[in-house]
Amino acid sequence: MTPSKTIDTDKLNALIEINTLINSNYSDVNALLAYILESAMRLVEGEASSLLLVDSDKKTLRFEVALGPKGLEAKKFVVRMDEGIAGWVVKNNRSLIVNDVANDPRYSPAVQKSTGYETRNMLAVPMRVKNECIGVIEILNKETEAGFTHADLEVIEILANQAAIAYQNAQHYQRSRDEIAILQDQIATDRGYHTLIARSPVILEKLDIVERVAKSDSSVLILGESGVGKELFAEQLHLKSDRAGRPFVRVNCAALPEGLLESELFGHVKGAFTDAVSNRKGRFEMADTGTIFLDEIGDLPLSLQSKLLRVIQNKSFEKVGSSDTITVDVRIVAATNRDIEKLVEEQKFRSDLYYRLNVLPLYVPPLRQRIEDIPELAQFFLKKFNREVKKEFLGFSEGAMSAILAYSWPGNIRELENTVERACVIGKPPYVREEDLLLNIRSMPDNNTYTDKSLKSVLNLFKKHYIQKVLEENEWNQTSAAGVLDIQRTYLSRLIKELEIKEK
Ligand SMILES: Nc1ncnc2c1ncn2[C@@H]1O[C@H](COP(=O)(O)OP(=O)(O)OP(=O)(O)O)[C@@H](O)[C@H]1O
Ligand SMILES: [Mg+2]
Repeated sequence: MTPSKTIDTDKLNALIEINTLINSNYSDVNALLAYILESAMRLVEGEASSLLLVDSDKKTLRFEVALGPKGLEAKKFVVRMDEGIAGWVVKNNRSLIVNDVANDPRYSPAVQKSTGYETRNMLAVPMRVKNECIGVIEILNKETEAGFTHADLEVIEILANQAAIAYQNAQHYQRSRDEIAILQDQIATDRGYHTLIARSPVILEKLDIVERVAKSDSSVLILGESGVGKELFAEQLHLKSDRAGRPFVRVNCAALPEGLLESELFGHVKGAFTDAVSNRKGRFEMADTGTIFLDEIGDLPLSLQSKLLRVIQNKSFEKVGSSDTITVDVRIVAATNRDIEKLVEEQKFRSDLYYRLNVLPLYVPPLRQRIEDIPELAQFFLKKFNREVKKEFLGFSEGAMSAILAYSWPGNIRELENTVERACVIGKPPYVREEDLLLNIRSMPDNNTYTDKSLKSVLNLFKKHYIQKVLEENEWNQTSAAGVLDIQRTYLSRLIKELEIKEK
């Protein structure tokens, strides 16, 4: 519909302003939609408003933005397409002015009943892209008695179409960005490398160190718990070094028994042992001019430790069964999740080798100390598994993300990756929900959980969740949980009864 002469200068200016915004900013589409909705509400003097989008299954509508006194609560709703005014608007692809909501049979009171927010009158307008309705904008409760007018409707129709275009452009933009990221990832994966996600200051600082350390030829020892990404850091050390175009050869020192590991690392000559039917190149030779990554170095048998020490000192070694010395130019990066100093103390790891490897130690901190990385990692894995399970998750529900952030991730990034993978398999788009994550904890209550706002009841709820979590972490052993909580066991058992805490 073209703007008629009923649109005054203020309104026109607002429309132009929004148009400029739409053309300039796609980075945060939600903020943009909220801004459009806010302007729409202001222009027609509504008290509340919502922007609903048609879900990919085309059976439901979800609240993408909701403003006004009960906006937050309204956002939790998903509306069926065959109910309510919004459903009617999508189905008929037509706008509506309803100035007597109570007597309109199309109105569904479900949201009102739950939020307690009374709707007297409303405007509902389709958001169209190429004449297809992709969502609905609703403006509720005109501040003046008379209700909404046709002039109001016209303004909202223009805004609704702009919002639709903004949303679609943002989606295209997001999709291209995702595709670029996927392709980059694909190229890296094809070359055998992983994408390393880094957002937290701690990890960015480590990457900075990697950048500087990479240029030298000294050995690097990467330490850190299991699943923190030590291998990815080893890759980065190689990729940021002058050896980047050269081979990067991985060896897991824990994967093979001593004899096989020796020939794997250094090669053997024909006849060196019964199965040695031909000459074989070892990993050190394959890594010549590049980098060798010795994973699980803490598990390297003592006999091979001395051979490795010689490689580091002289850059030379002999194949198994041969006395010819081979010289290589290899940069050594090693990693372990074991307490290597303790192994040295226990004389399971040679101290001279340890000092040689540990010239440049690099500690990769556990995920619980870098929670800023979690949302992006979770999103990264979601995209990866979207492809694998052929689903289109857009992201995580607020509840799911809070649960992810509250969890302590003992298994670090590997565990996060597995959790997201499982959620992709069992969940249903568009969002991963908290229950899809199967995290074996009850996350801390968030603000919405507090229905009774008195301090006493909030504290009790907090106590209940916290005690439950500690009990779960202690396999419901009350004595050890009481120890962690620093309270008497008898007091704990009274609290369990009073707060009605039950084992799940
Ligand atoms: N920063 C990151 N960005 C993206 N993926 C990551 C990151 N860190 C780790 N991962 C992923 O998490 C998993 C575990 O990482 P990795 O194998 O490097 O851990 P690790 O420290 O070597 O663990 P372990 O000691 O058990 O061998 C891998 O699938 C890896 O791709
Ligand atoms: Mg590893």
